[in-house]
Amino acid sequence: MTKVRIASTTDISSGKVLKASANGQSVIVAKVGDKYCAIANKCPHLGLPMAKGKFENGVITCPFHGSKFEVCTGKNVEWVDSFVGIPLPGFAQKIVAMGKSPTDVKSFAVTQEGSDLFINA
Ligand code: FES
Repeated sequence: MTKVRIASTTDISSGKVLKASANGQSVIVAKVGDKYCAIANKCPHLGLPMAKGKFENGVITCPFHGSKFEVCTGKNVEWVDSFVGIPLPGFAQKIVAMGKSPTDVKSFAVTQEGSDLFINA
C-alpha cells in the first residue's frame, strides 16, 4: 500500500460525496462533521458503484438495492431493502440479496496535509 492523494479539502462540499481514484481503486470521500472520511466506491452486495447514492448524516445509500453504509467506518447499517429506490417487501429483499449477508464496505483512514487529503491504498 502506498500513500495516495485523493482530493483537496476545497473539492469537498458539505453534504455531498466526492468520487476519487486511488491506485486504480474508486473511492468515495466526504466530510462528516469535522472529519474527512473515505470508503471504497464498491458496494459489497454486488460490487456496484455507490457514489451516486443518497448521502445523509454520514451514511451513503447504494442506489441499486438500498444498502446503507457509514462513510467514516464502512459499517453496514441497512442491507438490501429496495430496488433502484423502490422499497421491497421482506420476501423480495431476500431474493434481491441473492444469498449475500450484510457486509461492511472497505474504509480508509484519511490523513490531511495542508489542504491535501491522502489514504493508503
Ligand atoms: S449493489 Fe449495492 S445494495 Fe445491491
